[in-house]
Amino acid sequence: MSEYVELSNLTKTYPTPKGPAVIVKDFNLHIARGEFVCLIGHSGCGKSTVLSMLAGLNEISGGGIILAGRELTGPGPDRGVVFQSPSLLPWLTAFENVMLGIDQVFFTARPEERALIAEYYLTVVGLGDAMHKRPAALSQGMRQRVGIARAFALSPKMLLLDEPFGMLDSLTRMELQQVLVDLWTRRKLTALMVTHDVDEALFLADRIVMMTNGPEAFVGDVMKVPFPRPRNRAALLDSPEYYRLREELIEFLEVRAYTLKGQTPHGGPSSPATPTSPAVGPAQPATPPIQPAVALAAS
Ligand SMILES: Nc1ncnc2c1ncn2[C@@H]1O[C@H](COP(=O)(O)OP(=O)(O)O)[C@@H](O)[C@H]1O
Ligand SMILES: [Mg+2]
Repeated sequence: MSEYVELSNLTKTYPTPKGPAVIVKDFNLHIARGEFVCLIGHSGCGKSTVLSMLAGLNEISGGGIILAGRELTGPGPDRGVVFQSPSLLPWLTAFENVMLGIDQVFFTARPEERALIAEYYLTVVGLGDAMHKRPAALSQGMRQRVGIARAFALSPKMLLLDEPFGMLDSLTRMELQQVLVDLWTRRKLTALMVTHDVDEALFLADRIVMMTNGPEAFVGDVMKVPFPRPRNRAALLDSPEYYRLREELIEFLEVRAYTLKGQTPHGGPSSPATPTSPAVGPAQPATPPIQPAVALAAS
């Protein structure tokens, strides 16, 4: 497996009124070129912190990140970022919003060529008929389609997605998961996506990285998702293996995310039977009381 992205002992310390808070500590992860990795963990554990350091939008306190053989030192168009909300400029059309980045990255290309790039990606994400509308005339799901088109249109070395479908209803979310996976299949971009939805992770990812609770959060476990591509959602839901992996992810979130940190789980290892709920608990306090590690309650 060729290493394309290397996060080595990545650490983030934020200053707080009570002194420095070590949010992420010695986070280690290697990603192969063309791999799709999902990062899951409880709210507040530090997922966005890791992603924003990769995006170059958040200073690295310790350790480092190498992308395609070069150490990252700041933001750049070699990383396409998709956030929960796409932050489109409201006075520009979807097409013009996508063109903004294309004009910067492909400034040597002819204007017609640049326009073709924008039209191609907007069409692939399903906005062929709506690309000349302004964001106010687009639904939230359509706006997020623009965000996805914009990220892919720059042909980045890496795609970074932070809960991109977190604000969408479940039907729209499934549609956009399909849009994303179709585009990713065409372009095979290396991707790291934060999600708190275990079903989304199992549908999209080659591997799922499970993050412990904070403070000093780290990679607690990594799951290889064995399902061949292209994946069919109905077939996945028919597979006993799907439910076994799902249980394992939920068990991590409900038990090991805590016990690996010497914390006491809330509510125990029972897992819901329906494949819809993300089963993610409340955010952790910044400095939890020190408790002895409890034995794993499930295996
Ligand atoms: N700029 C900041 N200053 C201080 N603390 C921060 C800052 N940004 C995030 N944090 C804290 O870092 C922790 C992790 O945040 P975040 O990475 O957003 O978590 P997640 O994305 O997993 O929900 C939280 O406790 C949050 O309050
Ligand atoms: Mg976050």
